[in-house]
Amino acid sequence: MVRLVGYDTEKEKIGICYDGKLLWRELSDLQHWDRWLHSHLKKLGRNFERIPTKRLKKLVQNSWSMDEVTEGKRPEMTKSIAVCNKWLSSLIELLPGEEAQSFLNDEIYMNKKEATVARLKAQKAAKDYGQFFSSTSSIEKVCECLQKLYSAQEIESSVFLEPSCGDGRFFQHIQSIRGQKIIAMEIDASVAGLARKSAVGLSNLSVEITIADFLSSSRQIDTESNLIVVGNPPFSNSHNPHDDIAYQFIQHCAVEWCANTIAFILPDRCLKPDYTAKVLADLNLHGHEWKLAESVHEPQSSFDFLGTKKIQKPSVIQIYHRFQ
Ligand SMILES: C[S@@+](CC[C@H](N)C(=O)[O-])C[C@H]1O[C@@H](n2cnc3c(N)ncnc32)[C@H](O)[C@@H]1O
Repeated sequence: MVRLVGYDTEKEKIGICYDGKLLWRELSDLQHWDRWLHSHLKKLGRNFERIPTKRLKKLVQNSWSMDEVTEGKRPEMTKSIAVCNKWLSSLIELLPGEEAQSFLNDEIYMNKKEATVARLKAQKAAKDYGQFFSSTSSIEKVCECLQKLYSAQEIESSVFLEPSCGDGRFFQHIQSIRGQKIIAMEIDASVAGLARKSAVGLSNLSVEITIADFLSSSRQIDTESNLIVVGNPPFSNSHNPHDDIAYQFIQHCAVEWCANTIAFILPDRCLKPDYTAKVLADLNLHGHEWKLAESVHEPQSSFDFLGTKKIQKPSVIQIYHRFQ
């Protein structure tokens, strides 16, 4: 036997009595299981009478208890409680065992809630940091562009820098065009851990990974080496959406790291002539002559998010190169 026994506005939870036990659940839990059961039964060709949303919403406007209702202090609620109890009973009756336990067993319910909160937090952090990883085809195009610009010997004697290396998926491609050394940075320690795994077994490429904010870093190699920057910088800064973090990465590579070449996968807004003109004008303020050596539009490109989702986003591969 299951029935509603109250609502607490402070907890924002509905009291439910099930088999003599008091459970506190959120309105969103009831809505979740309503949706879940509806689509589960639909696949089996069966119907399920949907949640009485309007009545349930009336029951969560103020705190109340069943004692008040039985004492006749809340006559306006009696009908809504009866309708919601009918729906709740059929929900519990029709939910399969494991799903019913997720709703009714406090320990399982709490564990699942915590897991969901942790997953959403990780998802938000991944989004805030712009963890959209490049596709193999885009990385291969970056490498092809570099091979047009440099001979094999020049690539071998250069140092590579990947300022926001993500899970390290560029490394093996740099090894395959005969790069010998790459310095990589990543702000998120857990993602840097994935990059470390990607570096294992790359016997011809020396990989140094640092957990750091690239925008606060400075050049860590001798002044003689030719420095080629590769990667896919975060496209925007969620903390300040007006900040163009991709632009800041380009400037930091040129000014602080004295890069010779910056080969980036960028959002396709960077294709606009005004944008590239501004980037070049600012790069050229520091006594060197920079040119845009390549600009390859990738209207169909996609990025991997959290290892599970493919996000379609047009991009452009741009190679800024210093000629002096
Ligand atoms: C768009 S992903 C690209 C990853 C990888 N370069 C690729 O092409 O797949 C950007 C990465 O930069 C990291 N990141 C964001 N801000 C950063 C910063 N200020 N310094 C270093 N890494 C940063 C994010 O955590 C994310 O892993």
